[in-house]
Amino acid sequence: MPKYHIITYGCQMNKSDSEKVAGILEKLGFLPTEMEEEADLILLNTCSVRERAEEKVFGKLGELKKLKKRNPELKIGVFGCMAQRMKDELLGKFPHVDFVLGSYKFVSLPEILEELKDNKKVVLFDDEPYPEDVDWKIIKRDSKFQAWIPIIYGCNNFCTYCIVPYLRGRERSRKLEDIVEEAKYLAGQGVLEITLLGQNVDSYGKDLGDVDLADLLEEIHKIPNIKRIRFLTSHPRDVTDKLIKRVAKLPKVCPHWHLPLQAGSDRILKRMGRGYTYQEYKDLIYRIRSEIKDASFSTDIIVGFPGETEEDFQATRRALEELRFDTVNLAIYSPRPGTLAANFEDPIPFETKKEWFEELENLQRKIIYEKNLRMIGKEEEVIAEEINPKNPEELSGRTKNFRLVFFPGDKSLLGKLLVVKIKESRLWSLRGEVVREVND
Ligand code: SAH
Ligand code: SF4
Ligand code: F3S
Repeated sequence: MPKYHIITYGCQMNKSDSEKVAGILEKLGFLPTEMEEEADLILLNTCSVRERAEEKVFGKLGELKKLKKRNPELKIGVFGCMAQRMKDELLGKFPHVDFVLGSYKFVSLPEILEELKDNKKVVLFDDEPYPEDVDWKIIKRDSKFQAWIPIIYGCNNFCTYCIVPYLRGRERSRKLEDIVEEAKYLAGQGVLEITLLGQNVDSYGKDLGDVDLADLLEEIHKIPNIKRIRFLTSHPRDVTDKLIKRVAKLPKVCPHWHLPLQAGSDRILKRMGRGYTYQEYKDLIYRIRSEIKDASFSTDIIVGFPGETEEDFQATRRALEELRFDTVNLAIYSPRPGTLAANFEDPIPFETKKEWFEELENLQRKIIYEKNLRMIGKEEEVIAEEINPKNPEELSGRTKNFRLVFFPGDKSLLGKLLVVKIKESRLWSLRGEVVREVND
């Protein structure tokens, strides 16, 4: 039987797509392998969000050249966002690549693998990427207890720095009935936690007319065996009061909000095209906190946007101090070809951007440390998800606010919803002890 190996870069959307591709391949009779050397088919699911993400793929493709030399029968394919961006240019740069598939074209893999048999090269993409779906029953999910369900594809926002809308196409919501049916199927398979995915989940349903994310959460909440529901990413401009009230009302929905702020300066937010001021963002956080006591927040920040001044940077710094996020994904601005901001003047030296980045990194490290310390002694609900690969006598799982917790326990506890008392805090994780199992 032929063997496949998939390497995934980028966001959860890509991870979810890789699970679909694994499903398609296994239906065709392929077996998975962890070892590149023994694979007959190697696939790279790529990301274009920053230059660095693309460099990683270039590096990997360079490495794979040697493997292909040793085994000319090996087929190498590139898909995902960078494939959509570079199309046949990728074949020009890397002649040992056999095929390139645009954003949603992996659905055509069965036919493409047939074409490859004649040693042809294949490049397949849509100019306007248009989402296509695979039968969810074939998806090969990474985790037994946690599942990602994409609910909306694409993005209409065109933030001036971002390449995603060009590569993932316009927003398109999946039908509510389909999503609920998929969730029910997963519940039947033993999945306990569902994460609803989209570049902007608050836009869910706008193209369908009469439903929104709040309605969808309510429907999924009715499925008895689903214990937890998460959703990401939220756009600060689009979160409605209806959604906040619904999350407050539905106990299985984790009150964890991934709300990318991007910058603390109104001048920069405007140039980014984000559609809110810092004050509006802050009001939103306070509105959520007033409805949901234990709400927690994570965010994304871009450092060194073109034209950012020391004063703008200090505004972002103050925002992190003031709002004290649970997680901050920091990135230095990276110009993306074809986006508006790529034409903006960018006089700030890279060295300054790096210093700003490090300053925010240190600040956030301190905040997380203090926040973790404050969790000691608290009792948290955790699903036992995995055995700690470094210590087989320990299990790990996540709290409702997405903190990683390790605790002593054996594999009979896997897949159980537990109350864990937090005993110790480390920088990126917590340690605790099981108090009891939650039986509802
Ligand atoms: N749809 C989500 C995520 C988009 S990409 C959202 O709206 O937030 C994830 C993150 O990458 C963004 O939030 C942003 O912080 C970062 N990002 C996007 N384009 C970037 C660029 N050109 N340079 C640096 N960071 C970027
Ligand atoms: Fe990119 Fe903005 Fe869309 Fe997020 S909302 S994917 S940052 S354009
Ligand atoms: Fe990257 Fe595409 Fe996701 S550019 S962040 S993989 S949508």
